[in-house]
Amino acid sequence: MPLVNLSVLLRAAEEGGYAIGGFNIQNLEMLQAVARAAAEEGSPVVLQFNPANIRYIGMEYAAALGLVAARLARVPVAVHLDHGADFAQAAAAVRAGFTSLMYDGTPFPLDQNIAVTQRVCELAHAVGVAVEGELGQMGGVEEGVFVAEGLGTMTDPDEAVRYAAETGVDALAVAVGNQHGTSVERLDMERLSAIRAAVGLPIVIHGGSGLPDEVIREAVQRGVRKFNVATQLNQGFLEGFLRVAHERPGETNPRAPLEAGRDGVVAAVRAKMRVFGSSGRA
Ligand code: 13P
Repeated sequence: MPLVNLSVLLRAAEEGGYAIGGFNIQNLEMLQAVARAAAEEGSPVVLQFNPANIRYIGMEYAAALGLVAARLARVPVAVHLDHGADFAQAAAAVRAGFTSLMYDGTPFPLDQNIAVTQRVCELAHAVGVAVEGELGQMGGVEEGVFVAEGLGTMTDPDEAVRYAAETGVDALAVAVGNQHGTSVERLDMERLSAIRAAVGLPIVIHGGSGLPDEVIREAVQRGVRKFNVATQLNQGFLEGFLRVAHERPGETNPRAPLEAGRDGVVAAVRAKMRVFGSSGRA
């Protein structure tokens, strides 16, 4: 059964000592590209949609796209809401068929973040859907997602213990120097290990595009089980699309540039899966 709850993927990643990729989908071509990359790499995969992706695609279309990809796949697939904005959006995603949710309460005070995450977990767990929570505030750039000023605020291990115990989340996204949409040379590895040891949950790192491969490998060794990747997919798509669009100025059919965009995403996703160690794990 290829459509799975995120926890199933995280448990296998925990046992195998690797991480899975959560890849942000903007259109049909990106979805097909991520599904093809997963098939070619024999890798489990998370197809994910953030609020900006959902504003563009529509919640029902997003779920339908993800669920069809899962049905056609031979590898395990989770369909995930990335950076869910509030309880209502989480509920809408559950109703639409998502198998995994992230609720992002990082713009709010800790008590409020905990209270809403708790409600999201209750709803999701009642119907077999997994929840990723987040603590700390990341900086950088991501459309439709809260980002803090400057470098943001790193996750505090003691707060993480309280957050994990009171909410019941299945995975914890952390801020340890990672940034959305920009390159980062290193992470605070000591803090990452301290959080992991304190909460014992699979750790998620957002901002996977700009991290050097050796930093990703070390983070996996320290307990990161999911990386989110968006910018590299956008770049791969646009590079291919624009190259072909410019090569054929008189073209009246968009299919050739769309195909080139799709191929660009396949290459980016396959490379990332190898670094995460998820290739051959399906
Ligand atoms: P990047 O765009 O830096 O890969 O970050 C994506 C992300 O974290 C989505 O939640």
